[in-house]
Amino acid sequence: MVQHAGRGIVITGSGSAVPTMALSNQELSQIVDTSDEWITTRTGIRQRRLAAPPQSLVDLAVPAAEAAIAMAGLAVTDVDLIILATSTPDDLFGSASMIQARLGATQAVAFDLTAACSGFIFGLVTGAQYLRAGTYQNALLIGADILSRWVDWGDRRTCVLFGDGAGAVVLQTADRDRLLGFELRSDGTQNACLTLAYQGDPQSLTGPVAVAKGTYQPIAMNGQEVYRFAVKRVPEVIEKALYRAARSVEHIDWLLLHQANQRILDAVAQRLKIPAEKVLSNLAQYGNTSAASIPIALDEAVRQGKIQPGDTIAAAGFGAGLTWGAVIFQWGPG
Ligand code: COA
Repeated sequence: MVQHAGRGIVITGSGSAVPTMALSNQELSQIVDTSDEWITTRTGIRQRRLAAPPQSLVDLAVPAAEAAIAMAGLAVTDVDLIILATSTPDDLFGSASMIQARLGATQAVAFDLTAACSGFIFGLVTGAQYLRAGTYQNALLIGADILSRWVDWGDRRTCVLFGDGAGAVVLQTADRDRLLGFELRSDGTQNACLTLAYQGDPQSLTGPVAVAKGTYQPIAMNGQEVYRFAVKRVPEVIEKALYRAARSVEHIDWLLLHQANQRILDAVAQRLKIPAEKVLSNLAQYGNTSAASIPIALDEAVRQGKIQPGDTIAAAGFGAGLTWGAVIFQWGPG
């Protein structure tokens, strides 16, 4: 079944923004008991960018969004939908509206979407449904996260992996459909593998009435379980999305995976028999930037001229929830 019902969709612009402050593996080894050699061989990460204390998620998201809107050749007031995929909003009530205000996107409705490291893929499909239905014409999707706020910088099993950043794309309706197929999945039974969970202690108000007052606990992860999950489930979901797109692995020009670990990227590519030169990777520079990793890697490859209009891209996200999903699309209008 090809998922083409309704209007066609194209991705017409991309943008990204990362903090200037970098933390190398060498510097990290002065904070926790680790080494550049361990991190590089186990993950492929060499450094990560970290948001400086006054830098907000909105500060990162806005320039990424502006670059995507400019590439698409739209006026900001043409944008009618903004989806912010994030697990780390500046405000738990949501940060999308602040982005809408800072951009001056006065015609756009804006909301947050949370699906951890799958957020960009889930957001892409969510935005596409509004466009397919004819409700909106021009959607801005931002994937942005500042996980450094929630990492335990004393836990070497997690703190070496993550970095901060933002990426964005513009989706538009079009006669020719470039969003070829998708598949999204969730499995809450494995939720405990990767959490950033709220924990509260009872605070008595009056009589038997009490509330749970506390905060979110740092990221906790079973690395080996998450690794096994990704290497098994990501190839499956890409194959399913390819089937829905009536395409096969041979049609893929670029494999664009959530940038979690170079070994995961390599293992997924190997299982799908996709050659290494078709695998996009920027892990060495940024580490795992959660919902931002796919649009940052996409934007860099587009601006470097690697991805050309019409190229077929298999993009897949995976992470906490557990959630995972894949989208098959062709880059650019035309
Ligand atoms: N530096 C040095 N040693 C470390 C370390 C670090 N940063 N982190 C863990 N170790 C140690 C462990 O304590 C363990 O030591 P031991 O053998 O004495 O007990 C050893 O290294 C091996 O640990 P292990 O957890 O088996 O390593 P691994 O090969 O599974 O690699 C991950 C760990 C986290 C890199 C890997 O499991 C992974 O990438 N998982 C997926 C995580 C992920 O992508 N999460 C986000 C998904 S969105």
